[in-house]
Amino acid sequence: MAFDLDTFAETSEAVTWHDLDFDAFEERPLDGATLRTLRYMCDVEYHTSCFLRDMLVTPSHREEDAAGFMTMWNREEFWHGEALAAVLARHGIVVDYDELKAKRVKLGWRLALGTLKQSALSNLIGPDFVAVHMTWGAANELSAVAAYRRLAELNEHPTLSVLLQRISQQETRHVAFYTTQARERLEASTRAQTLVRLILEKVWKPVGSGIMDEPEVQHVMGHLFGGRADDLDKLDKRLQRLPGLGTVTPFRSAFGRLGIR
Ligand SMILES: [Fe+2]
Ligand SMILES: [Fe+2]
Repeated sequence: MAFDLDTFAETSEAVTWHDLDFDAFEERPLDGATLRTLRYMCDVEYHTSCFLRDMLVTPSHREEDAAGFMTMWNREEFWHGEALAAVLARHGIVVDYDELKAKRVKLGWRLALGTLKQSALSNLIGPDFVAVHMTWGAANELSAVAAYRRLAELNEHPTLSVLLQRISQQETRHVAFYTTQARERLEASTRAQTLVRLILEKVWKPVGSGIMDEPEVQHVMGHLFGGRADDLDKLDKRLQRLPGLGTVTPFRSAFGRLGIR
């Protein structure tokens, strides 16, 4: 799956949902576990802007392609958050973007430290940081596709499942960007391969781990992937196709650490 920035730029748009029948949620409201998972996904999508901020102090932002993509990608993720917030709103759950942002600001010093740490780390390992960033992004986006598809399948809901399929469609383009970039960087450097292997195996965690409480992470990942070892293996295999990553199993490892098998 190759990635073309021009095509992406021309076709990048907000996920459409205004045409969907949201009244269907009156007749067939979503269950508690699904709403809890959606709430998590909504928060994570909205928080993407914070990852972008972190990214702007790293060498990746000096890469022209990466910077161009990031701007549009950031908007798409924000719109995913908006669509999910609309579904939650129909169930009386209010997710307020400004409130979320304020919460992040309150966590200020910790976040600032995180950004600083990432900046120092990225300068330390130089261009290999870009390889780490792109592979990490590929893992996140791959799991986003799998998570949305799985939630759609679990619900078979005339409105929710269509919306989730549309979102996951956009996530597949994000996968294409990150894997294309990661492949290039990894091909160029065996040092990057070693570093990426180490970080994926020991440090990678499911998306949202840094910003959501641990019980929420466990609920969501258990809800979507509990007892789905094959799904985790498939995700690992996608990463194993990248240069030098033939043996990595970040999904199995990270989910195992969360107690999900
Ligand atoms: Fe998204
Ligand atoms: Fe994405």
